[in-house]
Amino acid sequence: MADDRPIGIFDSGIGGLTVLKELHLRFPDEELVYLGDTARVPYGSKSKETVVRYTRNNIDFLEAEGVKLVVVACNTASAYALPELKDHQSPPVVGVIQGGVEAAAKLTGGRIGVIGTEATIISNVYQQALARLSPGVSVKARACPMFVPLVEEGWVDNDIARAVAHRYLSDLRGEVDTLVLGCTHYPMLKGTIKQTLGEGTRLIDSAEETANMVGQKLDRLGMRASSKEKPPKVRFYVTDSPKRSMEVARRMLGQIDIQEAEYVDII
Ligand code: DGL
Repeated sequence: MADDRPIGIFDSGIGGLTVLKELHLRFPDEELVYLGDTARVPYGSKSKETVVRYTRNNIDFLEAEGVKLVVVACNTASAYALPELKDHQSPPVVGVIQGGVEAAAKLTGGRIGVIGTEATIISNVYQQALARLSPGVSVKARACPMFVPLVEEGWVDNDIARAVAHRYLSDLRGEVDTLVLGCTHYPMLKGTIKQTLGEGTRLIDSAEETANMVGQKLDRLGMRASSKEKPPKVRFYVTDSPKRSMEVARRMLGQIDIQEAEYVDII
């Protein structure tokens, strides 16, 4: 039996659209509802208590939209809130951390780097998950807070982006063979990060890994949507500034299948 209820996705803002885009490409029959909490972004500099509260609030909204599964596309929310929500059964919740960790553990030659927001790195969630999965592997974790505003500004491969990447990451060149991009926005900086670290470092994109995990989860739960002639519409909600959100979304993702961002009052 097919399950045509939508998949809910939320992020602190617009960056999680990298996950939505990947899901939309891989599972065109699935209806997607995205919530960007643009009123309260960034989460990456907030306390655990606050991020957990916002996360519950966002999940409640998506639940009311009738979703069959929630994807927490925000690394910070996944790091801080998912351990608190592990008993949340209905709808089931998938975060962005496990997929990246599993891919890194599988591919590494023994030296992994993880980059993310301050909160994600402080939470230690990536470091602990990697230590559990691959004991003995060295993990270097680093917060790169300036990357998020750079991406929002569309500055992903200019002099400033390269200078910031150099400042954060140049000492990891030759030191890590695999780097987990542990933040929604960082896949947009792949080219610049790769240039800084050199060809010897493989980059793990959480958006791609999360889409794999979502596919597996849907199969396991028998929740795939029925096949459609035309991909269903993507619904895009934000908690503030729909016009600006749409502009940033277009700048980040190019041509996307979203007509407009709609304001919702959930706070
Ligand atoms: N979405 C956040 C993350 O993936 C980045 C932006 C923020 O700090 O809220 O960690």
